[in-house]
Amino acid sequence: NDTAAAKPQRPTPWWATKRDQLIKLTPQTGGRYVYDLETIKARASAVAGIKSVNRAFYAMKANPHPEVLKTIFAAGLGFECVSPGELMRLKDTFPGLDPKKVLFTPNFASRHEYAAAIELGTNLTIDGLHPLTHWPDMFRGAEIILRLNPDRPRGHHQHVQTAGPKAKFGIPLDQLDAAREAAAKAGATVIGLHAHAGSGVVEANHWREIGAILARAAEGFSDIRILNVGGGLGVPESAEAPALDLSKVDAELATLKQALPDYEIWMEPGRYPVAEAGVLLSGVTQIKHAFGTRFIGLGTGMNSLIRPALYGARHEIVNLTRYDEDGTGMASIVGPICESADLLGADRLMPDTREGDVIAIAETGAYGAVMASRYNLREPADEVVI
Ligand code: LLP
Repeated sequence: NDTAAAKPQRPTPWWATKRDQLIKLTPQTGGRYVYDLETIKARASAVAGIKSVNRAFYAMKANPHPEVLKTIFAAGLGFECVSPGELMRLKDTFPGLDPKKVLFTPNFASRHEYAAAIELGTNLTIDGLHPLTHWPDMFRGAEIILRLNPDRPRGHHQHVQTAGPKAKFGIPLDQLDAAREAAAKAGATVIGLHAHAGSGVVEANHWREIGAILARAAEGFSDIRILNVGGGLGVPESAEAPALDLSKVDAELATLKQALPDYEIWMEPGRYPVAEAGVLLSGVTQIKHAFGTRFIGLGTGMNSLIRPALYGARHEIVNLTRYDEDGTGMASIVGPICESADLLGADRLMPDTREGDVIAIAETGAYGAVMASRYNLREPADEVVI
């Protein structure tokens, strides 16, 4: 029909092209994440190619696998880190890394953690008044970036909205004067302002809006040269969902840049470079028909991928073994964990699926393995790169 014909056709995803290789990589028990470095390279290069962004830092919380980090670094991105563990991972992966390629943006971090980052010489973001008012000596002579709460929550789920009156992140705009005074008193120079309003945003004008809020806030300061508009660049949850167009993000930010040529624009995407580059593979353990529902059981579940349970996130689920077969009816795809929330996808059209078939859960390169647990003492999926 006409409507279907008018829909933009998504290019064949990498995991469909490489499905024979993926089937061979699937373990007999549990699960395995596979990351396609070519896809990461392409997505990271696209981010690095946003002309109006002066510097992009990959939010490594999304996927800190060393090979992933190396691929992203080679594409020209730096790193946004939030913990001593992430700083350590960078140290191990890139001996001698220029600390200015690193942006330390923790929240509610201890004074010891800030001291360690200062010792390393990374860029520093402060997300509240406490560090400046309680540990002023630490910041004497330091250049700092202040994280603001732009009071404009965004994101795919309430749990990933990091702005607005309920958020624990950033400095509320009405405390900006106090923050400026505290920084001055501590002897720190505020060289930048930052905001990250949420995750999974697909509206291209979002980062310009954030930049405009930061620019307004910057008027009260004299040394600001950086506006960090955060991360949050979303990826589609299905073949039909709208995709974020980076050239539109660029065009939007270019208008901001035109009005504010004196500022550098920084960005810190986590999900975008890696999400679509990952699949979680697992074999089918059992099939059950109950109360009109077909349950397809996998060897791994919420212990490897918590996003569906935690955020109601939707991931595309495909039977790689029977990729060319038509769907025969709807199914719920579940894991082996003793929780009703261990539901990876409900009401999915699936082919006649059998024990031993290989199932791929797509777009799991971001916030997948890194959020896994050993609940039920089931080892979460391991990780390989291809
Ligand atoms: N910058 C800051 C300060 C952040 O807090 C985050 C993510 C990012 C950048 C990167 O955001 P991204 O570009 O990846 O959206 N576990 C959730 C996402 C939590 C994001 C936390 N902060 C999920 O699986 O959707």
